[in-house]
Amino acid sequence: MCGIIGYVGKKAASPVLLEGLRRLEYRGYDSSGVAVLGNSTVEVRKKKGKIDEGLAHEIQSRPVNGDVGIGHTRWATHGPPCDENSHPHLDQSEKIAVVHNGVIENFDVLKQRLLKAGHQFHSTTDTEVLAHLIGEHYAKRRSGKSESNTLTLAVCDALREVIGTYGLAVICTEQPDVIVGARRGSPLIIGIGDGENFLASDANAIVAHTQRVVYLNDYDVATVTRARFDVMNLGTDTAKVQISQLEFQAEDSQRGDFEHFMLKEIFEQPRTVENALRGRVDHEGATARFGGLNMSSAELRSIERIVIAASGTSWHAALVGEYLIEEFAHLPVEVEFAHEFCYRNAPLQRDTVLLVLSQSGETADTLAALREAKRRGHRALAIVNVVGSTIARESDGGIYMHAGPEIGVASTKAFVSTLTVLSLLAVHLGRMRMLSAGRAQEILKALEAAPKQIEALLKQNEEIKRIAVKYAQAEDFFFLSRGYNFPIALEGALKLKEISYIHAEGYSAAEMKHGPIALIDSKTPTVFLVPQDSMYDKTMANLAMIRARKGPIIAIATEGDEQIRKVAEDVIYLPKTIEPLNPILASVPLQLFAYHIATARGCDVDKPRNLAKSVTVE
Ligand code: G6P
Repeated sequence: MCGIIGYVGKKAASPVLLEGLRRLEYRGYDSSGVAVLGNSTVEVRKKKGKIDEGLAHEIQSRPVNGDVGIGHTRWATHGPPCDENSHPHLDQSEKIAVVHNGVIENFDVLKQRLLKAGHQFHSTTDTEVLAHLIGEHYAKRRSGKSESNTLTLAVCDALREVIGTYGLAVICTEQPDVIVGARRGSPLIIGIGDGENFLASDANAIVAHTQRVVYLNDYDVATVTRARFDVMNLGTDTAKVQISQLEFQAEDSQRGDFEHFMLKEIFEQPRTVENALRGRVDHEGATARFGGLNMSSAELRSIERIVIAASGTSWHAALVGEYLIEEFAHLPVEVEFAHEFCYRNAPLQRDTVLLVLSQSGETADTLAALREAKRRGHRALAIVNVVGSTIARESDGGIYMHAGPEIGVASTKAFVSTLTVLSLLAVHLGRMRMLSAGRAQEILKALEAAPKQIEALLKQNEEIKRIAVKYAQAEDFFFLSRGYNFPIALEGALKLKEISYIHAEGYSAAEMKHGPIALIDSKTPTVFLVPQDSMYDKTMANLAMIRARKGPIIAIATEGDEQIRKVAEDVIYLPKTIEPLNPILASVPLQLFAYHIATARGCDVDKPRNLAKSVTVE
C-alpha cells in the first residue's frame, strides 16, 4: 500500500525513480508522481492512474532534470484518486516536497491550525498537511541558526506533533544534496550504493542498484546524501543500524516470458514448495527442523494453545493450519482475523503462543496482532515471506517461506508455501506429542512428492483454461467443499473475486443447505472440491443437492474418480496425496481457473482495481 522511493546520486534521478516505482506499483496504483531537485527549484510531475498510463507520459512530455528526487505510487486512503491528491505534496513555500505511506490520524486538527496561520491546501490528503507542517518547522528553524541538518530537525519537530503512521521521504531546494526519510508503522529501507544512496518502501525498488540495505525501525529518521547516511531515533538516544545483504536479484522480480506476474508465480510453485521444504525434512528423526523458531523443545512441548492471526489469503492458510496442527499435534488452535484479535480483548491462557502468517510481513492489522500478543506477555511466532520485513524482525521467532518476491497482487505461491510450512510445523509439534514416526514419515514423503505433483497439475493449464473460458461470463459463483478443503473453497472464491470482479462465495458444502442453496440456479456455477478423502461420500451428497437444483458443477476431484464424471459438467483431476495435503494441490487449479476467467474478461490480473498487495494501514 503506497510505495515510496528516494534517490541521491550522480545519475539522472527521474529514470531511477520511475523504474523503482514500476517495481513498487504492486503496492498501489491509484496515482503516481515524482519530485526532482533542479536549480534551486523542485519540479513535480504527478498523475492519476497507473504509471504507464499517466506519469510516464507526463515525464516524457515534460522531463525533469536533477540527480536528487523522490517518488510515490499511491493506494488512496484520504481523498479520492486524482491528480491533486497524488504525491509528492509541497509545503506552503513550495521548497519542500514530501512522499508518504501511512495515515496521519490527527491531520484535521493540524490542518485547521495551519489554515488559521494562512496556509493554503490544494488536495484533501493528510500528506499535504504533513508537508506544510514540516515547512512550518523548517521556516522556524531556518530563521534561527541555519545548519546543514535543518531539514532533518524540521522533520523531527513535525513528527513529534503527528499521531499516526508514516514511511516518508522529504527533499528541500535549500538542502539540495539531502533526502530525509522517517518511519513509524510503514516500512522504509536505505539502499547503500557507491556514490549514490536510496530510500525505498521495500527492496524490490532498488535491488537492481544495490544488495546492501538498512531496514529502518519505528521512529528512525534518516539523513541520506550521496556519500553517507545517518540515522537517529525519535524515541531512544541511539538508533540501531545494521547493514543487511539482500538474498534475491533483480531478475527474481521480473516477469520473464509470462504474460502476467500471477501466471509466472503460479508456475513457480514446484520450485517454491521445494524451497519451503529445503533442509527442513529430517527423515532420521521423522520430523521437521527449523533454524529460527528460537524455542527449545521443552518450550515447544509446553505450548497449551496456539492462536493463528492473519489477514486475507493468509487467513485462509491459517484455517488449514488449524486443521493440520489439531490433527497432527492434538493442540487446540484458534484462528483469528488479525484486526479482530487486536481489539476484542480475547482471553489468552498462560501458555498460549500467537502465530502470525504474512507474505509481506508488513500488513498493519497482522503487525498490530503480533504487538498486542507480545504486549500481553505471549510469545509471538511468524511465518513470513519477505526477509527482513517488520513482522520478521519483531517476532520472537519464525519460519521463512523462501518463496521469492511475489509481485502479483493476488497471492498464489506464498499461499501454497504457507501451507507447506504449516504442514512441517504441525509435524514438528506433533512429534513432540502424539504423532507416530510412521505417520510422520508418510506425511513428509507426501510433502516431498508435492512439487512433482504440482508440475503435473500445471500441465493441465490448457484444459483448465478451456473450462474457465466456458464459464467466464457467469456473474455469480459458489466454491464449496468440506474438511481440509473448506478453506481452499474460501480461497478459490477470493481469488476469483479479487481479479475478475465476479461475485463468488466460498462456503462449506455442508452448510450450504442451511440457506445459501436458495441462490443456486442454472446460471450459477459451483466449483466443487471433492477429492477422495474421508468426507467424500458426504461431499458427494452435498453435490447432489446442487445438481438437483440444476446448478452447473465444475469438480476438482482425485484422478481415477470416474463416478464424478456422471454428476459434474467439467472435472479437473488432482494427483493422489494424503488427505491433509490435498489443499496444497487443490489450490493450484483454482488459481489457474481464476486467472483464465479474469484474462478472458480483460481484467488487469496483476493490478486489480481497489487492491494493494501490502496493506500497511489498519
Ligand atoms: C492484502 C492483499 C491480500 C493479502 C493480504 C494479507 O489485502 O491484497 O492479497 O492476502 O493483504 O497480506 P500478507 O502480506 O499479510 O499475507
